[in-house]
Amino acid sequence: MSGTDYPSDTITDMSPEPVGARRVVVLISGSGSNLQALIDAQTHDRLGGEIVAVISNEHDAYGLKRAHEAGIEAVALPHREYDSRDAYDGALIKVIERHEPDLIVLAGFMRILTPRFVQRFLGRMLNIHPSLLPAYQGLNTHARALADGVASHGCSVHFVTEELDGGPVVLQAELAVTADDTVETLKEKVHAREHLIYPIAVQWCLEGRLQFSPEGAKMDGHLLPPHGMCLSHEDAAEELDEDAEE
Ligand code: GRF
Repeated sequence: MSGTDYPSDTITDMSPEPVGARRVVVLISGSGSNLQALIDAQTHDRLGGEIVAVISNEHDAYGLKRAHEAGIEAVALPHREYDSRDAYDGALIKVIERHEPDLIVLAGFMRILTPRFVQRFLGRMLNIHPSLLPAYQGLNTHARALADGVASHGCSVHFVTEELDGGPVVLQAELAVTADDTVETLKEKVHAREHLIYPIAVQWCLEGRLQFSPEGAKMDGHLLPPHGMCLSHEDAAEELDEDAEE
């Protein structure tokens, strides 16, 4: 291409387009405590983007109230009003795309997703799961971990693929299980760790540092190990002002 093929820009014309805030859509089904952690991070300018909508498949999800109170568009899209999983996911895709998100964040969205839905947002959809994946995919993770007598439990943020809770893990937070732990105490400690790591993973994603690739998740261009990066029990306990000896 010769120099004359370029449009004759002035310096002003050549200044980069202002980049709008990265757009995030959060999907929930319930309480939305993870959503609240993301909202709080956004309030403190630590999310790397803006939550533009929160969508719930349950019309009475408390998370919708949290969104509303934060001035975020809160949308109830009840799955019971659709004849099939495919019809629901089709409607959900439409509502999501109306908000032109850069990232879709699943925060306690209790639905099995159709392959069509997953493919549509592959590489730009994160989930948080209450176990150290690949251990304990699926439900009742705390009870299963207790029953097995594991010494270490925790939570994982991962990219969503067609395999349920099976996509590349990007970040985990550990906790040391003690003899006194119950399902309730584990739930509480895991939740606290989720609130710590989810906003960080979302921020890294929105900044483009964290990326999905067919081989796995990449951080700053480097392929991560299958369990991603990990916040140790000690570091998490310190962040949370917990007694690490508990
Ligand atoms: C969290 O434990 C998360 O790991 C799982 O669903 C729960 C959602 O909790 N996917 P909340 O609605 O964010 O309080």
